[in-house]
Amino acid sequence: MKTYLTYDDVNIVPKFSEVLSREDVDLSTRFTKNTTMSTPIVSSPMDTVTEYKMASEMLDRGGVGVIHRFQSIEKQSLDMKRIWNQWDSWYNIGNSKRDRTDHTRTFEDWYKGVRHWNSPPTKSDYEDLHELLWFTDEATKDEDYWSKRPLCAAIGTTGDYLERAQELVKNGCNVLLIDVAHGHHKLVGDALEEIKKNISRVEVVAGNIATKEGAEFLLQSGADGIRVGIGNGSLCETRIRTGVGLPQVSTLLDVVTICDDFDVPCIADGGIRNIGDVCKGLGCGADSVMLGSLFSGTKESPGQIEKIGEWPNEKLFKKYRGSASRDSKGNDKNVEGNHKVVPYKGKVYRLLSDIEDGIRSSFSYVGANNLSEYHSKVEFVRVTQAGTIEAKPHLIGE
Ligand code: XMP
Repeated sequence: MKTYLTYDDVNIVPKFSEVLSREDVDLSTRFTKNTTMSTPIVSSPMDTVTEYKMASEMLDRGGVGVIHRFQSIEKQSLDMKRIWNQWDSWYNIGNSKRDRTDHTRTFEDWYKGVRHWNSPPTKSDYEDLHELLWFTDEATKDEDYWSKRPLCAAIGTTGDYLERAQELVKNGCNVLLIDVAHGHHKLVGDALEEIKKNISRVEVVAGNIATKEGAEFLLQSGADGIRVGIGNGSLCETRIRTGVGLPQVSTLLDVVTICDDFDVPCIADGGIRNIGDVCKGLGCGADSVMLGSLFSGTKESPGQIEKIGEWPNEKLFKKYRGSASRDSKGNDKNVEGNHKVVPYKGKVYRLLSDIEDGIRSSFSYVGANNLSEYHSKVEFVRVTQAGTIEAKPHLIGE
């Protein structure tokens, strides 16, 4: 029988580095075959994680927020439309010849409007603004750059899924994500085929799978991205209710070999408890990581902030729930998840900055300037239980 390992079982080996500044490290990556992001972070399509506000913040920061499907087609499409509008308004900046809404508006006009300046912007004003809006020289040179940004929403494989997909695409979605627990399934293959047959100019991420065979099946069915992870989510009960699932590090190492053969990127989804796990997921060869619990309880996650206790001892919380939890389904059928209140964490951008800092440092520790170098340089060692204890702050317990 094989032994499979997960994040806490391994550490990354430090290597000779010539990275002079962590700021020089390039975090850009692919979300699907033809869409790119400037940071390898994706927020999960869960109803307590990603609706418009989270997706907007993720787009703003160069990642992707996948709008969840546990709502009406109308509401999900409206969120999609708002995201598309946000992207579209940036896309038009300084591109008057491609401005689809106002052909007289130039970058200078826009800049004056924002800053209320009458003098023309200087070169450094342009540079500031480009940085602010995640423009890079490379990006602006690339005619298709903005059309390659993934605007993504989730769908299922039964009922009105095709109508939902069509409506989402009509409202600006360029990547659909098939969000089901068991992606190595005929229904997912059929859905991929139907979408490809009926909707043009859309890419599809499919999952979740945890084996080479699962990846091969989805890629042969036409998937443009693969979502990896079964039974490893923080609220997941799949393993305790069914015994099914595989530890994520070995799973990723398996699956990326198939994704590489097809030249299709993969997303490491679930079980990421800290920034080190983000780095380990990427180190296994994943092109991006998907986060649920880390982004739960933030200002941008859907749901009310609840106050428990009275001032000055009050504490703030938000709810986080599994998509297959009793709380989410409203009944007891096929429950494979749980729910929890989590401490309120404030704005998600602080978490994103922390995560990006951690990834940059990890790149520097192994001497990588970008994700592809990181993939080829990362080497894991297996750690013992003592090593796991050593990895966490441990003075306090002594
Ligand atoms: P984390 O660990 O980031 O995981 O909270 C998020 C991922 O967990 C998956 N997910 C579930 N898995 N039952 C499951 O078995 C559920 O109810 C459930 N809800 C979410 C999903 O892949 C998500 O991205």
